[in-house]
Amino acid sequence: MRKLLEDYMNWGFQLERALNYEVVDAQVLDASTLSGIAFVGMGGSGIVGDILSKYFEREIDIPVATIKSYVLPRYVNSDWLVIAVSYSGNTLETLSAFYEATRRRAKVGVVASGGQLALLAERRGLPRVIVEKDYLPRAALPSLLAGTLGLLNKLIELDISLEKGVEVLRDFSALNEAENLAKYLYGGIPVFVVSESFYPVGLRAKNEINENAKIASKVEVIPEWGHNDIVGWEGNPRNWLRVVAIKGDQDPAIDFAIDYLRELGHDVRTLEIGRYGYFETVLYGSWLVGLASVFLAGLRGVDPEVTKSIEKYKEFVRSYLMVTQDYVL
Ligand code: F6R
Repeated sequence: MRKLLEDYMNWGFQLERALNYEVVDAQVLDASTLSGIAFVGMGGSGIVGDILSKYFEREIDIPVATIKSYVLPRYVNSDWLVIAVSYSGNTLETLSAFYEATRRRAKVGVVASGGQLALLAERRGLPRVIVEKDYLPRAALPSLLAGTLGLLNKLIELDISLEKGVEVLRDFSALNEAENLAKYLYGGIPVFVVSESFYPVGLRAKNEINENAKIASKVEVIPEWGHNDIVGWEGNPRNWLRVVAIKGDQDPAIDFAIDYLRELGHDVRTLEIGRYGYFETVLYGSWLVGLASVFLAGLRGVDPEVTKSIEKYKEFVRSYLMVTQDYVL
């Protein structure tokens, strides 16, 4: 627990170093000729795709997809830019989609700390960022996000900086808030409700609670929340769900959700994260829920670092892909 907690507490420093990661073998692509951008990755690496897709869907005119699968959708062709993100570099779903992207002659870039993905990218001279090692993937979000943005900045000539995030990740009042959140969540099933612009923070919160605190959790996104899940709250038992509303700046829909859930008799805790720009808000929110999930692990007496179930699943995927696909390692 100590190492993971320290890793989270040092996110500001991690991000500061990550801003200077080298981008290797970047050829500038003509962004106007791209038909789309796909981020390929799973779990703590895949969230980078969620964060960036949400950002780009409002900023650029081509489709941006997040692919969390070993299957690359048919629409991804040679006019697409595919960025494969895997902290370990050995996640088979990511490797499988990566191979397929190169087979279709898509423009491919890689972000990894090592493993097969880094090796293959080096051998093929693909644009890449190699991030620092020795973290659990979920604790390496600043590195993965900054590395991926650094790569995109070079490849399609953007100028997005995460520099302001460094300050935000040194606001240690977050520790107190995270500890209080963990106490609130303890003994129940966390349900995160979030508006779609900050969906990645809600998803991250659920995933962190799963992996670090070892309990089930769910995330509900507005507006879809208002078309099905909302009804479930009319009857949900009131003592075992712990509702957390993740609130961005100017977020009337989440205010509606908070008021309505309270009206129905539910206790709702609000996490106010929206004081900054998009990326800083996402980093801050992810930091807060990451810290809370480690504190919750402490309260529950479980080791936040070990994720034996993921290892079991990875063994299954290895045997499954071995028999279904001939190119796997
Ligand atoms: C572990 C974690 C997992 C991994 C996932 C993919 O900390 O967060 O969700 O991120 O199993 O592995 P990588 O990130 O190495 O591709």
